[in-house]
Amino acid sequence: MKAWDVIIIGAGAAGLMCAIEAGKRGRRVLVLDHGKRIGRKILMSGGGRCNFTNYFVEPGAYLCGNPHFVKSALARYTQWDFIALVEKHRIAYHEKTLGQLFCDDSAQDIVDMLVKECADAGVSISLRAEILAVAELGEGFSVDTEAGQYSCHSLVVATGGLSMPKIGASPFGYRLAEQFGLKLLPTRAGLVPFTLQPQDKETLESLAGVSLPVVAESADGTRFTESLLFTHRGVSGPAVLQISSYWQPGEPVRFQLLPEGCLAQGLAESPSQELKTWLARQLPKRLVETLLAREGLVNKPLKQYIPKELAAIEQRLAAWPLQPGGTEGYRTAEVTLGGVDTKELSSKTMMANRVPNLYFIGEVMDVTGWLGGYNFQWAWSSGWCAGQVV
Ligand code: FDA
Repeated sequence: MKAWDVIIIGAGAAGLMCAIEAGKRGRRVLVLDHGKRIGRKILMSGGGRCNFTNYFVEPGAYLCGNPHFVKSALARYTQWDFIALVEKHRIAYHEKTLGQLFCDDSAQDIVDMLVKECADAGVSISLRAEILAVAELGEGFSVDTEAGQYSCHSLVVATGGLSMPKIGASPFGYRLAEQFGLKLLPTRAGLVPFTLQPQDKETLESLAGVSLPVVAESADGTRFTESLLFTHRGVSGPAVLQISSYWQPGEPVRFQLLPEGCLAQGLAESPSQELKTWLARQLPKRLVETLLAREGLVNKPLKQYIPKELAAIEQRLAAWPLQPGGTEGYRTAEVTLGGVDTKELSSKTMMANRVPNLYFIGEVMDVTGWLGGYNFQWAWSSGWCAGQVV
């Protein structure tokens, strides 16, 4: 049985960051991954350009059953620390929007950077490593793989969430947490497009490809100002992905298609203009036609509506309700909500409170960020923290 100081399961964002930091401290580190490539999610992230962090990272951008949990790690390894690492490797990047930082060239640059840092820190990485069993062994653990048996003092679980099973996502981390008696919070797909109820699908399907800026609001009052995209399957776009993480089945989502007060202003400026013509100046034309039919709105010059009618139309368009049929699920979701309960872990080290030397980092735990680089930042920050102590 080959002995290591640290075994990390998962060669994704969090696992690699932890490996680098532990390696730099002189620990003998082995990273095991059942995939055939390192950092596959990094490679496909951000449309192939990896949105690796965000200028505006703050604890409020994370969903977690224990909201204070993320504060320590995010403060100890910040977006500025990761940006410094990217700059050290001379990777060109840019801000796309809302503080989101992307590589100019390719997400491969980020993977190459992590692999180089691992090599410099003396980290060993073993791919196509199927893990058969994990057990406690003295103060540490034994890890049985198809390729052989290992022992380690510290075991770090960095197996990520359930989204995109096609590229290696597995429930391994959750099962391991259960094996050691750690509590799990229910998992569900997050940052995911909505599907529609059959009757909505019929009326909205023809809008596939239409996109517009909106404010999306969930039943709990969370709001995101981003764009909405109609698709053949339902609705997507950043506004929908963001709000999906706050959505509960059965609840409606409201989209502000037009700001309040703008129809009254339209009446003052162009009283003779028909509602349809006026709306088509504010919204995509295809959407206007569908909206008029769907909402049963009579089309006439704005001055012919009584104020109550105009106010009702305005109210409807300022909070247009849509009841999703569901989500597209883990097949297309960017993240998994829920996971290992953070109450089981130290917010400083990510070690399980009740199982010495067992650590959980990254998406496998119940921490989910907004769209826009926040999830990678959590992987870097939590991985870095564990890397200081394993
Ligand atoms: P991650 O999933 O990266 O790594 C887990 C590793 O564990 C994988 O390599 C997997 O093969 C391995 N593994 C799983 N089960 C195993 C087992 N049984 N045995 C051995 N190994 C196992 N976030 C962001 O901030 N900016 C972005 O641009 C994007 N874009 C994006 C696009 C798409 C399409 C997706 C699906 C996701 C994103 N994300 C994102 C989210 C981001 O990718 C995600 O939050 C992080 O990769 C999580 O990092 P982890 O290291 O925790 O898991």
